[in-house]
Amino acid sequence: MMEFLLRLICLFSFALRTLAIWQTPNLAFSETPGGLKLGGTGSGPTIVIDSKDWPGVTRAGNDLANDFGLVTGTKGKLATSTSGLTNTPVIIAGTIGKSPLIDNLISTGKLDVSAVKGKWESFTTQVVPNPTDGVASALILAGSDKRGTIFALYDISEQIGVSPWYWWADVPPKRKTAIYALPITKTQGPPSIKYRGIFLNDEQPALTNWVRSAAGFGSYNAAFHAKVFELLLRLRANYFWPTMWASKFYVDDAKNGPLADEMGIVMGTSHTEPLARADKEKVKPWDWKANQAGLKKYMQDGATRAKNWETVWTMGMRGDGDTASPTLDAKQLVDVIAFQQGALKSALGVQDLRGVPQMWCVYKEVGGYYQAGMKVPEDVTILWSDDNSGNIQRLPISSEMSRSGNFGVYYHFDYVGDPRNYKWINSIQLSKTWEQMHLAHQKNATQIWIVNVGDLKPLELPISHFLDMAYDMSKFTSSASTDPWLEAWATREFGAAVSKGTAEAMATYGKLIIRRKYELLNLNFPYSTVNYDEAETVLGEWQALEVKAQKLYDGLDAETQIAFFEMVLHPIMAGRVVVQVYINAARNKAYAAQKRMSTNILADDVKKTYAQDAVIQKRYHSLVNGKWNHMMDQIHFGYNNWQDPASNSMPSVQTIGTTAPSTGIMGVSVQNSAASTPGDAAPTLPSIDPYTPENRTIDIYAKGSGTVDFTITASVPYIKVTPSSGTLTYPSGVSDIRAIITVDWTLAPKDTTTKADITIKPSKGTSATLTLPITNFAVPPSFTGYVESNGAVAIEMHRYTSLNPSSGTSLSIIPNYGRTASGLTLNPLPSSPLTPSTAPRAIYTFYALTTAAAAKVSVYLPPSFNVDPSSPLKYAIAIDDGTPITVTPVPSSTLGSMPGGWSESVINGARIVSSNVGRVEKGEHRLSVWLLEGGTTVQRLVVDLGGVKGSYLGPGESGWVGRGR
Ligand SMILES: *[C@@H]1O[C@H](CO)[C@@H](O)[C@H](O)[C@H]1NC(C)=O
Ligand SMILES: *[C@@H]1O[C@H](CO)[C@@H](O)[C@H](O)[C@H]1NC(C)=O
Repeated sequence: MMEFLLRLICLFSFALRTLAIWQTPNLAFSETPGGLKLGGTGSGPTIVIDSKDWPGVTRAGNDLANDFGLVTGTKGKLATSTSGLTNTPVIIAGTIGKSPLIDNLISTGKLDVSAVKGKWESFTTQVVPNPTDGVASALILAGSDKRGTIFALYDISEQIGVSPWYWWADVPPKRKTAIYALPITKTQGPPSIKYRGIFLNDEQPALTNWVRSAAGFGSYNAAFHAKVFELLLRLRANYFWPTMWASKFYVDDAKNGPLADEMGIVMGTSHTEPLARADKEKVKPWDWKANQAGLKKYMQDGATRAKNWETVWTMGMRGDGDTASPTLDAKQLVDVIAFQQGALKSALGVQDLRGVPQMWCVYKEVGGYYQAGMKVPEDVTILWSDDNSGNIQRLPISSEMSRSGNFGVYYHFDYVGDPRNYKWINSIQLSKTWEQMHLAHQKNATQIWIVNVGDLKPLELPISHFLDMAYDMSKFTSSASTDPWLEAWATREFGAAVSKGTAEAMATYGKLIIRRKYELLNLNFPYSTVNYDEAETVLGEWQALEVKAQKLYDGLDAETQIAFFEMVLHPIMAGRVVVQVYINAARNKAYAAQKRMSTNILADDVKKTYAQDAVIQKRYHSLVNGKWNHMMDQIHFGYNNWQDPASNSMPSVQTIGTTAPSTGIMGVSVQNSAASTPGDAAPTLPSIDPYTPENRTIDIYAKGSGTVDFTITASVPYIKVTPSSGTLTYPSGVSDIRAIITVDWTLAPKDTTTKADITIKPSKGTSATLTLPITNFAVPPSFTGYVESNGAVAIEMHRYTSLNPSSGTSLSIIPNYGRTASGLTLNPLPSSPLTPSTAPRAIYTFYALTTAAAAKVSVYLPPSFNVDPSSPLKYAIAIDDGTPITVTPVPSSTLGSMPGGWSESVINGARIVSSNVGRVEKGEHRLSVWLLEGGTTVQRLVVDLGGVKGSYLGPGESGWVGRGR
């Protein structure tokens, strides 16, 4: 009974929620005053679409009719007129100016479309009484144009509980017993970005082999594209670049071109495929100088072939195979574009190209031509590219603002090339996508956003996020928008019960993966196996994340588990496996050097974990009876250059013999030292103080087979080591014990630095005596802020003391940004240049326990570019009232070439710039930060007071005292 009641309550609360992400709800799932019943168990709506309307509208209407069936068990029907529709729920959908049915309602004053008429891709939905004879009331969906109406139809689908990903990610429809339209007027559009879409690319092996086999399409034909286009429209996108490694969109299936146009997808082609032609159709030689007639015919034929279909025409050209053409320079490129514009005019039969969307992508060497002053016709949209790694290279600057073709951005969630391919699973930090695309939007690059999504399937989440921003950036003005968006996304896909946990998990995933892509983990293995317990801590974070995701998964019903596995648990689990393999392979080497017997345990762990990779892949391939077989086939282990190796390979591991050294079985090591004693000289422990954030530990371990007991004693009574004794046994027992040191600070000598000895005595063999430096200074009780430990202060950006707005802009925190915690950025962009005296200032407070003669502040930035070359990224820092030190962190570079330090910063997910700040006395200090140019974002600050050790992420966040945050 209790359970039954609880279930009822659950049903009721879900009944009130519609599932469209951040769109105004106009439906309800229980009877509401004035609500018009649209459907439910046993009754489906009739969706009336005039036969004169766009065929794509009828097609989407048909999808909506089916979606009612998925949700309530009773499908809707399609009709072309309202005659005979008494006593049945009616939805009338149509395009203003194209649907006589809708135009009639407007002319008779029953429908007001003034809010959307004439606008791009907009719609209004209203409940209208007596729309036509015999119909008492109907829900009217009126689109300003073809896609406006299509988006209105899919908006209903999403609200009733059919995810755009219902097919592509197996999201189960959310069952309902009744669906009502609320008596409110809703309007949506126009979208923030005019043309927004995806590029399917780098499609071999996974996508192509899936298309050929498991999916049953056979090739990149119209049946395949119908699935892609439907997904895009449900995601409110409108633009598509097709696969091109081995396919020819318009040729492979003659139905492809007409299908896109019918469904309402605007076709484009990649930056290297001019005038709607495929790379694989290119004439030979592909050389404007040697074969101009051939190239001209190729381009003219492309314009002619696609002239009847909505297209954003790709202009310009590159050399063969997407490389720089050795015989083409800026002057000739101008000729190419002039010819292309002529070809378009003649194919389309127009005098000028106003209203004909054209795009020219400034990619690689072409950037150099543009920077050198190459003139581009102003009706051509200039598409700025990122660096293929998610960092936009250039954005519109003030002198370019008046171009009628405006600007756009070509972005990457997948790439084949330098520094290394990333095309296996999702490796995108959403808050970083927000940071870059929000900047693009603020700088008015709003005509086109296109993102390279590789095989599509692994990138469901970043695709949804990118397209939601492109549709309505007004919902994403806050730098804290990503996490609430994630929660709304998780609610739609998996339900409200797990939405918060899922959002947290994917925000954490973003932080872990931005540190280093999977393919790059074996390039100078990044994490320190010695300092700050870094490698182990990172592994622990991945493992904890997987535990969290697994718990969420376990709480879901079996249907939802499939979708959750595909989009959340799989990337976390598969990612953890790769990280564990590389981290434990690195630890295995470090342990071998210390002659720890657990070297062999780690070797086994690497082998066992590596074997899990294939198991997880198999599990993915067996989902839904093999529906996704071949997805995630991409090689991801064992890269040694940018290109993927022929097969996965496990990193090498070592094993060591079991003969104990003459000093006995016992060995001892401590943090921040590679030494193993006895044998090596006994290391000094890192010092401990009341604010040390991490535990001080001693590792005691077996260096040979057998058993040994040990005891641990400290030379002073206020130091406790836990455990104080133990037994090591190898191979059949506990081979490693980690002891934790704690200090009773009330008994330790105050206001001084001292030392104590800790002795580990084995029952047989040589003892080890370690020195522990102790610093026992107290910060004043009134102090709030970070406290130095071990000569370092590591600051996360969200723990500021103050953020002062100034000059019409503010410093804002981006939660879950960067490699460790959060980002600091200017939002909104300043309207005029800033200096430390005019810019908003962030203050971070810290307390130095000792005096540093020559302190240094390291600022951790993302690998961003100077998107406005005349106003490079810039910040200033100062300690206390010191003169601000102004820094332009990114060296200037020619457009299309990468700035100095680029490769390292992209590999590391951070660019670290250090400034000397001189002497810092013991006591309280303010570290001020000013961001002086839009797009400058900081993800971490480390003050080196003389003790910072080499590591990848820097010291762990420092201890914090005083008021919490
Ligand atoms: C972007 O366009 C808007 C509207 O035209 C304008 O007010 C704003 O100043 C532009 N932004 C920039 C950075 O130029
Ligand atoms: C320190 O050790 C305690 C006791 O084992 C443990 O609960 C805690 O999580 C450790 N803290 C860190 C930062 O590792």
